[in-house]
Amino acid sequence: MASFGFMLMVVVVFLFLFQSVFSAVYSVGSFQSIGDGNTIVSKEGSFELGFFSPGNANSRYVGIWYRNIRVRTVVWVANRCNPINDSSGLLTINSAGNLVLLSHNNSLVWSTNSSEQTKKPIVQLLDSGNLILRDEEDGNAENYLWQSFDYPSDTFLAGMKFGWHSRKGLNQRLSAWKNWNDPCPRDLTFGFEFDPQLHTYPEAFILKGTTKLYRTGPWNGLRLSGAPELMPNPLYDFNFVDNDGEVYYVYNLKNKSVISRIVLNQTTSSRDRLIWIDAEQTWRTYSSLPRDECDKYAVCGANANCMINDNPICQCLKGFKPKSQEKWNSMDWSDGCVRNYPLNCTVKHEDGFIKFLSLKVPDTSHSWINKSMDLNECRVKCLSDCSCMAYTNTDIRGQGSGCVIWFGDLLDIRNFPNEGQDLFIRMSHLELGKADSKRRVVIVLAVIGSVFGVFGVLLLGYCICRRRSNDRNETLSQNEGEEEDLELPLFNLSTIAAATENFSLYNKLGEGGFGPVYRGKLEDGQEIAVKRLSISSGQGIKELKNEVKLIAKLQHRNLVKLIGSCIQEEEKLLVYEYMPNKSLDSFIFDKKQGKLLEWSKRFQIICGIARGLQYLHQDSRLRVIHRDLKASNVLLDNEMNPKISDFGLARTFGGDQTEEKTSRVIGTYGYMAPEYALDGLFSIKSDVFSFGILVLEIVSGKKSRGFLPENHGLALIGQAWKLHKEDSAFELLDKHLRESDNNPKQVLRCIHVGLLCVQQSPVDRPDMSSVVVMLGSESELAQPKPPGYFTKMDSAKGDNSLIKPESSSTNDMSISLLEAR
Ligand SMILES: *[C@@H]1O[C@H](CO)[C@@H](O)[C@H](O)[C@H]1NC(C)=O
Ligand SMILES: *[C@@H]1O[C@H](CO)[C@@H](O)[C@H](O)[C@H]1NC(C)=O
Ligand SMILES: *[C@@H]1O[C@H](CO)[C@@H](O)[C@H](O)[C@H]1NC(C)=O
Ligand SMILES: *[C@@H]1O[C@H](CO)[C@@H](O)[C@H](O)[C@H]1NC(C)=O
Ligand SMILES: *[C@@H]1O[C@H](CO)[C@@H](O)[C@H](O)[C@H]1NC(C)=O
Ligand SMILES: *[C@@H]1O[C@H](CO)[C@@H](O)[C@H](O)[C@H]1NC(C)=O
Ligand SMILES: *[C@@H]1O[C@H](CO)[C@@H](O)[C@H](O)[C@H]1NC(C)=O
Repeated sequence: MASFGFMLMVVVVFLFLFQSVFSAVYSVGSFQSIGDGNTIVSKEGSFELGFFSPGNANSRYVGIWYRNIRVRTVVWVANRCNPINDSSGLLTINSAGNLVLLSHNNSLVWSTNSSEQTKKPIVQLLDSGNLILRDEEDGNAENYLWQSFDYPSDTFLAGMKFGWHSRKGLNQRLSAWKNWNDPCPRDLTFGFEFDPQLHTYPEAFILKGTTKLYRTGPWNGLRLSGAPELMPNPLYDFNFVDNDGEVYYVYNLKNKSVISRIVLNQTTSSRDRLIWIDAEQTWRTYSSLPRDECDKYAVCGANANCMINDNPICQCLKGFKPKSQEKWNSMDWSDGCVRNYPLNCTVKHEDGFIKFLSLKVPDTSHSWINKSMDLNECRVKCLSDCSCMAYTNTDIRGQGSGCVIWFGDLLDIRNFPNEGQDLFIRMSHLELGKADSKRRVVIVLAVIGSVFGVFGVLLLGYCICRRRSNDRNETLSQNEGEEEDLELPLFNLSTIAAATENFSLYNKLGEGGFGPVYRGKLEDGQEIAVKRLSISSGQGIKELKNEVKLIAKLQHRNLVKLIGSCIQEEEKLLVYEYMPNKSLDSFIFDKKQGKLLEWSKRFQIICGIARGLQYLHQDSRLRVIHRDLKASNVLLDNEMNPKISDFGLARTFGGDQTEEKTSRVIGTYGYMAPEYALDGLFSIKSDVFSFGILVLEIVSGKKSRGFLPENHGLALIGQAWKLHKEDSAFELLDKHLRESDNNPKQVLRCIHVGLLCVQQSPVDRPDMSSVVVMLGSESELAQPKPPGYFTKMDSAKGDNSLIKPESSSTNDMSISLLEAR
């Protein structure tokens, strides 16, 4: 009894559902067959299907048109190229369940090709303008055996999937009518190019035959890259779907009473969106593609950028020059541009990228994508492939995600000032070197106020040195939004807060002149050290970000890597790789730990620091003077490789300290060159001096101490000089190293180089390149003069102010910054 009741209920519910689904589509629009002269109207009367003759022609076609528009506007044609001469046409369903168009004597004019067997086939015209064939007994009214939307003519209607379906073997391309009188296509088509093997980053083209006229650009998460007009608007909303062999773009009209369509027009070779203006009884163009000269496919040739507001509109991308200057000068851009410096794959690891902003990304015909890679992986992927020319995110939403890389020439790039995307284009290191020369920035001077009785540091100024650049008058106007490839992730404050457990004291590694340092762990497990800058910088956020990006550019195996930053409201955070082995001072000045660092390791460390410093001084894109090189600023990685930390910060943040903190001197007593400490003169040679001290410390395991009168000038430096003079410099070597494996020649050489680095006069000190060479060779070394700090000290008018900072920083704590350990 109960079960019977239940079954009855199921049946009733089923019938009810069936009925409601059914009645939604079952309408006057359905039929079994119609002849010429009869029409079918969709349920709500939007569209009508029937026989018609286009323009002045007499031939008969089956088509669909807007019912409420007096100007006959056909949106779909069945027998496009196969007209019927007379009124004998009959549209009907044949015994195989297909929709067929027959003419006299039942000759077949046109047919659908559904292969599914159906019990009760039915044809319906929907209010979307879609003509469908379905099985009346199939409960799912959306289960179409065939639909006209899959086989569009020249019109793209709302709700139509415009794209590609690999399983169904569909490619919904628009093809324009030959002319007003003939709906048969000629050669103009519009559709997505997609190929699961080759063309995996789909984009649509307007083609004339096989010639590309216009390209929409690929979907970037927000819009098609070449279609800035695809933004939220009152007329329609839109979407793009790319999954599992199905790729399509679709739009829907927001207001049912507005009539709009997209049509491909052979006469104008354009794809137009039109709106029906009822008051004027006319279609008005809402938008049209291509919209301007720059939209013409590859109008500027390969590797060039089209800028519609420039004259001429074409310019070679930075790093490229016209292939034929003569043709280019005569405004024939078809040959495009070639590299100033060809890529040389044998040194591919030296290639880099220039970041271009605000572009429509290049033709993706020769591209490769991986939607789960991030920008860094993408860069690596690109570098690893000699034919990779450029890369960027596939999805620009938020921070950006996914990876697309391009092979070969970059085609059809244009500039969209506001809606363009970033593109990273590969450049030879020669090109990048040239670009650098324009922005080498050298800090030359800093004045230590204490020397003059004013406590604190005053940054005198930056000196922008324009190095001789051998190139032509290169204007930057072509790429206003251009900047160098930086790749520095901006972290969200929430990410960093989570990684450091809300900057918990437990995770605090230390406190320095610019604020505390925290240890943290990112979600992906990477350990980080976060420097929380407590400066209230006078700089704007933008300038600050630029500075951080500059620091981020300094990349060398002997420099601690800055992996990101977070500049959000009041927080200014720098995120570094975490160095588990702490800093050099915790080894060399510690009896127990010191034993872990045998001589060969120490020598490696000395050489590594030298190379890192050489890079900062000479090889990096910015010329950076560290100003605070010391043992605690040299961190050690897992393999005890030295990594210099805190470089570039003094440059960036040193000038903006708040009142209380100006009492901090940039630099650390014991490491400061005399001309810096006394006269405030700062140069790469004062870093060399600090390096010399550091070498002596690493060799001896002793702290340099301050150069203070009460030390009688005989701190480490004096001792080294004395022993060197007495030909017994070997005695300077750390006691326990003297008894273990060492290389006396190397030890003496290091001490000798160390002494050369701490010469009184900056001129007498070698630069870091020479230091690297001296350490690595066995050549004769110049004899050092006495390290002259103290003679100067004696004449320093008995100024005691130097003692103050020393007494308040007894542990050699950096006065400016704290190392990230
Ligand atoms: C229809 O027109 C075609 C070409 O115009 C012609 O070959 C054919 O004989 C015509 N058929 C009839 C029945 O008029
Ligand atoms: C129809 O077929 C019949 C016989 O096969 C033929 O005599 C007649 O001419 C055909 N009519 C047309 C219009 O082709
Ligand atoms: C069905 O017909 C269309 C043209 O109307 C054709 O492009 C398609 O390949 C056909 N499909 C099959 C399975 O024959
Ligand atoms: C839809 O368009 C009609 C005619 O243009 C207009 O009168 C109406 O206010 C619009 N409705 C909405 C919700 O925008
Ligand atoms: C194509 O554009 C021309 C010129 O604007 C116009 O006269 C013609 O009607 C258009 N054709 C279609 C099919 O819209
Ligand atoms: C590539 O660079 C290497 C090393 O700099 C050089 O030896 C080689 O000749 C270069 N090859 C080309 C084709 O420029
Ligand atoms: C895409 O990238 C992810 C993340 O790097 C990787 O795990 C995956 O194997 C890649 N897929 C392909 C097809 O290369």
